[in-house]
Amino acid sequence: MAETLGWGIMATGLIAELFTKDLKASGLKVRAVGSRSIEKAKAFAGRFDIENAHGSYEALVADPSVDIIYVATPHPQHAPCVRMALEAGKHVLVEKPFTLNAREAEDIAALAQDKGLVLLEAMWARFLPHMRRIHEIITAGTLGELRSVQAEHRQFLPQDPSHRLNAPDLGGGALLDLGIYPVSFAFDILGAPISASAAARFTGTGVDAEIAVTMKHGGDAISTSVSALDCAGQNAAVIYGSKARIEMAPVWYTATAFTVVDYDGKALETFDRPVDGRGMQFQAFAMEELVQSGNLETPLMSLKQSVSIMHTLDALRAQIGLVYPSENE
Ligand SMILES: NC(=O)c1ccc[n+]([C@@H]2O[C@H](COP(=O)([O-])OP(=O)(O)OC[C@H]3O[C@@H](n4cnc5c(N)ncnc54)[C@H](OP(=O)(O)O)[C@@H]3O)[C@@H](O)[C@H]2O)c1
Repeated sequence: MAETLGWGIMATGLIAELFTKDLKASGLKVRAVGSRSIEKAKAFAGRFDIENAHGSYEALVADPSVDIIYVATPHPQHAPCVRMALEAGKHVLVEKPFTLNAREAEDIAALAQDKGLVLLEAMWARFLPHMRRIHEIITAGTLGELRSVQAEHRQFLPQDPSHRLNAPDLGGGALLDLGIYPVSFAFDILGAPISASAAARFTGTGVDAEIAVTMKHGGDAISTSVSALDCAGQNAAVIYGSKARIEMAPVWYTATAFTVVDYDGKALETFDRPVDGRGMQFQAFAMEELVQSGNLETPLMSLKQSVSIMHTLDALRAQIGLVYPSENE
């Protein structure tokens, strides 16, 4: 393996741009980009000074200068793209949601394990410094017994019916794009739920515009969240314990500040540490550490939990009656 790991960017959309910016600014090596269009690949490579531009994803995964593929395609393309990269012997960081559904999640998780390759879900919020400190505070017992987690994720996003967020065949809807953040957050703080229920409001295209999720976790704890793609929210979050709570400032799933407040109203700790760029580099550092160390998983975002989250998202979609076209085939 190369001493310095080489990254290959699969797709040239919005998040591929933002992540590549953070990778480059952090000094990590982006060696190639792959697009379904050679013109787009060349333009992207030009913008980020990347040596190799490929006009297909197949050519990207065959590039010997690449060790890690970052998959930034729409949700239904995650599983086939991850499969292609793993089959070519590459480690993979795949955007959230891990896949479209649990069946696909089980499939690619098993393939990564068979191949002995790292497969990590790019739930970047988990890798941010404020989340690491929150876990230390919880482990130290500062909050007492965990009671509940409350989080919001509402954004006013493009209303164009053909945009991937609104298009059923591109895995549109609030739950898989936005709701996954508070659902994954609840898993991270309280563990996998014992039960989960949802209520939704739909777009004209037939995907969820807004979804409220309530989950019951071990230790009698509960989590609640509301996510929407057609109205903007404040996007704060709170973790409540028996002795104190953590108030996470907007926007809680980006690099943010928080305060630990006891029930006399006293601030026990304030965390406010800016990060460079958007902060997406922390998941890349974790990915590189895994590859360099030979470990396949990090407790920050285990493969088992990525699969388990997809099972919960499936169960929530079943309750609101949302089935994607590829699931009917
Ligand atoms: N972590 C975050 O903060 C964050 C933020 C936004 C999105 N995401 C995730 O990243 C993924 C991509 O989101 P995005 O906002 O970057 O989407 P986007 O701007 O629409 O870009 C998606 C890219 O995927 C490629 N693609 C492959 N098959 C496609 C198809 N059938 N239709 C359209 N595009 C296709 C295209 O690249 P080529 O034409 O170059 O092949 C396209 O540019 C989603 O799964 C989303 O959940 C994460």
